[in-house]
Amino acid sequence: MNFRPPILVTNFKAYKQATGINAVELAKTHELIVKELGVNIAIAGQAMDLQMLAASVSLPVLAQHVDGCGYGAYTGHVPVEIAHGMGVDGALLNHSERRLSDTQIQMAVDDMKRLGMLSVICSESVEEAHRFIEMGADFVAIEPPELIGGEISVSTARPELITEAVEKIGSDNVLIGAGIKTGEDVRIAMELGAGGVLVASGVVCSDNPAQALRNLCQGLKAL
Ligand code: G3P
Repeated sequence: MNFRPPILVTNFKAYKQATGINAVELAKTHELIVKELGVNIAIAGQAMDLQMLAASVSLPVLAQHVDGCGYGAYTGHVPVEIAHGMGVDGALLNHSERRLSDTQIQMAVDDMKRLGMLSVICSESVEEAHRFIEMGADFVAIEPPELIGGEISVSTARPELITEAVEKIGSDNVLIGAGIKTGEDVRIAMELGAGGVLVASGVVCSDNPAQALRNLCQGLKAL
């Protein structure tokens, strides 16, 4: 699928504000901002909401996790094929809150490639990110785990991480995340060469997600 930087991905995680009927409402808010500002935004929904989300909005819908196991006797798994059949466009993989082995990542990436789906592999370091690009990821999302969900953004606490990632991997495939809450956080990341950002609490837990998205997207458009 054609989804190129600069991009913003919102991970709905398992926040109550972003599941069930709330997920659809939040997805539609994202769609509104895409139309209003002409930015590239994707959302990553809970497995149980994916079919409903894919049917409700036209922006890319990602799973938060998938398994490259195929159809079969795989209780509790989220096979790539089933997500694809629901109209899901791609998936996050290996989030800090849902880590996988390299073998599991490779199997899922291979299935997603075969089905034309977008893969975003979360990485806790530049070394990992580099390895995941070599394994065929479309994007890597680098997130220092200790900053996830906090008030201090990766852009302010670890700018050198962004610079190093861009130097080693290039701009086009690198997303950056953790603690990103403001347009200024996004602007710094983009100025340092990131291709986009991965956010969660700054949008999902905001009292006004539309306004939070507008602020974040100002940073995407600042370049
Ligand atoms: O997947 C994005 C995430 O881990 C970052 O979370 O709440 O720090 O934006 P947050």
